[in-house]
Amino acid sequence: MAEHDFMPLDGWDHLELWVGNAKQAAYYYEHAFGFIRTAYSGPETGVRDRASYVLEQGDIRLVLTSGLRGDSEICRFAAAHGDGVRDVALTVPDATHAYRQAVQRGARGVVEPHWVEDEHGRVELATIATYGDTVHTFVNRSEYAGPYLPGYEPLTEGEGPHRGAGLTTIDHVVGNVELGRMDEWVSFYERVLGFSQLRHFSDEEISTEYSALMSKVMTDGQGRIKFPINEPAEGKRKSQIEEYLEYYGGPGVQHVALQTDDIVRTVAWLREHGVLFIATPETYYDVVRERVGEIEEDWDDLRSMGVLVDRDEEGYLLQLFTRIVQDRPTLFFEVIERHGSRGFGLGNFKALFEAIEREQALRGNL
Ligand code: FE2
Repeated sequence: MAEHDFMPLDGWDHLELWVGNAKQAAYYYEHAFGFIRTAYSGPETGVRDRASYVLEQGDIRLVLTSGLRGDSEICRFAAAHGDGVRDVALTVPDATHAYRQAVQRGARGVVEPHWVEDEHGRVELATIATYGDTVHTFVNRSEYAGPYLPGYEPLTEGEGPHRGAGLTTIDHVVGNVELGRMDEWVSFYERVLGFSQLRHFSDEEISTEYSALMSKVMTDGQGRIKFPINEPAEGKRKSQIEEYLEYYGGPGVQHVALQTDDIVRTVAWLREHGVLFIATPETYYDVVRERVGEIEEDWDDLRSMGVLVDRDEEGYLLQLFTRIVQDRPTLFFEVIERHGSRGFGLGNFKALFEAIEREQALRGNL
């Protein structure tokens, strides 16, 4: 572990999405995904150029921000990429240290280390760039007692953690990068954050008749932060990664996986509240039982919710992917429940990609 000591990380801090209309996006994530609104900043709180809604569920903190004038960087981001993940923020014990280490190791600095404070205490922030227009903010909130960041107005003081859909924590955040650039970003995370490679999926493993991708998974020393990085591979038709890159206008976050302790209940809740999931092929359950073997869950429950199952040498996992959550074929979410497996559902990739391609074909992009 000695090689990781230069970049101690305490875990996921928050994900900030820059969107065209944060007021409406917040309503969607509250009502469809079961988040609760915990803080707000905008013109009413003295911030002139943007409005930000902080939503929480379990340990997950989602921030939705839109710009208020056409010349803001937030509006330019939303115009270029559509709604997307701007910031994958990480909690650290010392943001200045994290920033200096990262920049010294080749990261591009975006915002220099600084402190922000209010009556609840102070928070130290610093931001570096990663793929595309995506950034990582280092957040040291050890001296802060407020809900999110200084300057935000708390909305639900005293309430316990909301468990609307039963989502508990961020599991992994996946980036799509251009053909031939995956290894560059793998070495970026090795060099800059001290991450190591957990898994490597080749294009033979992840391919369908039409498209393929390559994926490498980078993780921190404690295995809490996981960043799979995808690049397109040669296929007969346009891969889903190429479709993403074209519509997002470059590399960016493809999907965010959120954990639950009860995926059947969570998916039922999300479906009931309007979240749309990728359709699981009818034939999937014909073969999956044999592939996966004994599990705790009831197969009929899984089938009724369309939940996918995979097993590796360490255990099994249950997962399901939402459809894209905006008009551009870019960002989507994954719901995942782990039973020992630290994998990503390799056995499901083919079934999944075939399902994704059916939807891609419907958009005329295959
Ligand atoms: Fe995933």
